[in-house]
Amino acid sequence: MQHMNLSTALEAQHSARNYHPLPVVLTRGQGVYLWDEDGKRYVDMMSAYSAVSFGHGHPKLLAALTAQASQLAVTSRAFHTDQLGSFLKAVVETTGLTGYKVLPMNTGAEAVETAVKAARKWGHKVKGIAAGQAEIIVCTGNFAGRTTTIVSFSTEDQYRDGFGPFTPGFKHVPFGDAEALEKAITANTAAFIVEPVQGEAGIIVPPAGYLAKCAEICKRHNVLLICDEVQTGLGRTGRVLACDHENVKPDGVTLGKALGGGLLPVSAFAARADVMDVFRPGDHGSTFGGNPLACAVGRTALQVLVEERLSERAEATGKELIAELRSWTSPLIKDVRGKGLLVGVEIDPAYATAREVCEMLLKYGVLSKDTHHTVVRFAPPLNMNPAELHDALTRVKTAFSELEHERVKRVA
Ligand SMILES: Cc1ncc(COP(=O)(O)O)c(C=O)c1O
Repeated sequence: MQHMNLSTALEAQHSARNYHPLPVVLTRGQGVYLWDEDGKRYVDMMSAYSAVSFGHGHPKLLAALTAQASQLAVTSRAFHTDQLGSFLKAVVETTGLTGYKVLPMNTGAEAVETAVKAARKWGHKVKGIAAGQAEIIVCTGNFAGRTTTIVSFSTEDQYRDGFGPFTPGFKHVPFGDAEALEKAITANTAAFIVEPVQGEAGIIVPPAGYLAKCAEICKRHNVLLICDEVQTGLGRTGRVLACDHENVKPDGVTLGKALGGGLLPVSAFAARADVMDVFRPGDHGSTFGGNPLACAVGRTALQVLVEERLSERAEATGKELIAELRSWTSPLIKDVRGKGLLVGVEIDPAYATAREVCEMLLKYGVLSKDTHHTVVRFAPPLNMNPAELHDALTRVKTAFSELEHERVKRVA
């Protein structure tokens, strides 16, 4: 406890206040479990916002990390390395994006920024949109990171408050409404950027057939369909890419989070060759993007995804998780939704905030985080086994029962 006080006091003294963490100090992770400084064990139902899809301390990923770190870690892209080519090949082969080209970056936001730049330049150079006039359509409720351009197209007041002036050139349509997309397209539309399942908006699954319809509309209007799979990609929803559920092959895909194996920030933008070819040397780049260490870990992460059949496992485990949560008749729970192991539980605000639910979960050894005040996410590592799922659900149920007991009585 002493240590917790010291470390959190130092954090309070020196840290920007841009996060509001739950009151726990973590010191160790293994598989789907995390431990705090007092040795208490927690089930990780958050996976660092879906970045730790392979669990903590995966031996194969750790081996790749340490071997490559001692061999060659960072060189910049000023030189070729023996790691980049095979990583990029693994990205296109694992995702089924045959013939696509890949631009490696580090964070998800950088991958999305890369997509925005590619779409605008393609719009001008290939589609023939006048310079500086390219429009990009996005959905209300989108989340793609925190850069100034990305918050420019956010519809969340807090993400924008005080950060203007904003980047122009974005138009909004409601998520899940393909007709609205078609109506919004003009001769200046270069791209439509969409999350196949909206993550940070509260795990919002669009109507079946939505993405396929969007793909057809985009194709007909010569508009690029860019799927932001930073959160949904690499097995999270039960397919390697969430757009695989509807057999959609987008013109561009952003990947991040799990691509770094839960060890490093590794992201990428993959796109049709004719789109990516708009970039010339010097147009875009990143000091760390595509570094040998990131490539070795990213390539191994993709290998583990395939070898351990994590997409299939996420689909099966996710179905069980959703079915079990839906079978509970708790007044606290308004809705349970999701795909694969990206699951959201909507809490009835009449009884509790999602944060209060997360605090109760913490007490019973489950780590998760609220999104949008009313939704608790359950997104454990994809390799969670049945016994671990059972353990997690038992704890979650106990936490919900206690809160229900407390709150229902209070409201009554
Ligand atoms: C769909 C989506 N895109 C982009 C991002 C941004 O990723 P990062 O936080 O690594 O910049 C996120 C992060 O949650 C995301 O969910």
